[in-house]
Amino acid sequence: MELKTKNNPTAIDVESCRLNHESIKADFPILDQKVNGHRLVYLDNAATTQKPRVVINALIEYYRKTNANIHRGFHSLAEKATKEYEQTREHVARFIGGVDPNEIIFTRGTTESINLVAYSWGDTNIKEGDEIVITEMEHHSNLVPWVILAQKKKAVLKQIPITLCGHLDLSDIDKIITSKTKLLALTHMSNVLGTINPVAELTELAHRRGAVVLADGAQAVPHLPVDVKALGVDFYAFSAHKMLGPTGVGVLYGRRELLEAIPPFNLGGEMIREVRFDRITWADVPYKFEGGTPNIGDVIAFDSALTYLEELGMDNVRQHEINLVQYAIEQLSGLDGIEIQGPQESSLRGGAISFTDKDIHPHDISQFLDSRGVAIRAGHHCAQPLMRTLGKVATARASLYIYNDMTDVDELVRALIDMRKYFGL
Ligand SMILES: Cc1ncc(COP(=O)(O)O)c(C=O)c1O
Repeated sequence: MELKTKNNPTAIDVESCRLNHESIKADFPILDQKVNGHRLVYLDNAATTQKPRVVINALIEYYRKTNANIHRGFHSLAEKATKEYEQTREHVARFIGGVDPNEIIFTRGTTESINLVAYSWGDTNIKEGDEIVITEMEHHSNLVPWVILAQKKKAVLKQIPITLCGHLDLSDIDKIITSKTKLLALTHMSNVLGTINPVAELTELAHRRGAVVLADGAQAVPHLPVDVKALGVDFYAFSAHKMLGPTGVGVLYGRRELLEAIPPFNLGGEMIREVRFDRITWADVPYKFEGGTPNIGDVIAFDSALTYLEELGMDNVRQHEINLVQYAIEQLSGLDGIEIQGPQESSLRGGAISFTDKDIHPHDISQFLDSRGVAIRAGHHCAQPLMRTLGKVATARASLYIYNDMTDVDELVRALIDMRKYFGL
């Protein structure tokens, strides 16, 4: 069977049809280094992922050969930059299920995408007494804008609670999502618990009650095949830097009729049709929402990240993560003092694995692991309300991606065992 990818002919093992980690690791120059005298084991992928050589090269090439401002120049470089920027928009549209490219807005990240909806859609549509429904497991990016909007509009903010296993507790959902609900904003995959939420089912319910649905896909798009049309959502937000792309690029998918009905977010150049001192008309979507010079080079380099993931195949990426998460959970569960948060069943979750040690603070865990070259995250992970529900001030979080393999999990486990010895436990 031929399973060669253009970027890396050995990225997929022909015998097993699985990702070939050694070969994939070699595409990421940053991984080929020692940190504190040890091989770098990078397990902070939920925060940001590393970049393959093709993305780094695309960025260098852009600044060496193309750099020009887009949409306004008539010289060759401006036309080339515009074409490549718009090609990435088309590529993103295909990557999330084949939507109209005009429904893809480039932003600086998931945070800005959600703020755009909160300001443009929220300010226009939320009225006093309306209800906004979020979940207890939201990242602050999909929480703070709704708290502030609810306060400003005297709307009611409701939360879907979570179960002890880290799933959404839907037992009272008919009381939470009601005919007063104007917006359901929920994460597709939790950055703390790894939980994959039933976005399609909840969207259907919310639509039946007349609400609009926004899903935060920051953790989902990098790890799962995502089809926004199949999910049925009205808005979907994610970030390039969590899926091998550069920082400073985000995506907002929005249903065209909704985007056409709401006002722009950033006012200034690029987003207008005609300006007079007494009257201004807006450009068509998506340009209405892309005021000012965008992050051109990074958007163009993002195209290479999408190609890289497509060549691996998002189904393979997902299957790899299911296998590796299962292994990691089994290994971590066997350790003294370690408690894992979130679903234990890997088919129901992604690669962000939060855990605590009953005797050692997460910050100390992270520091000790760093001394062994293992990079993880410790803290509240921008989810303070969730931490309160879990009864924790913080957790340690190891998060996996395509270049991680069982040897990385083994290094993590070895370092955790040594840590307890080091602390005399
Ligand atoms: C679930 C989730 N939503 C939103 C964000 C915010 O993404 P960004 O910082 O790229 O805007 C993150 C980042 O960690 C996240 O994990």
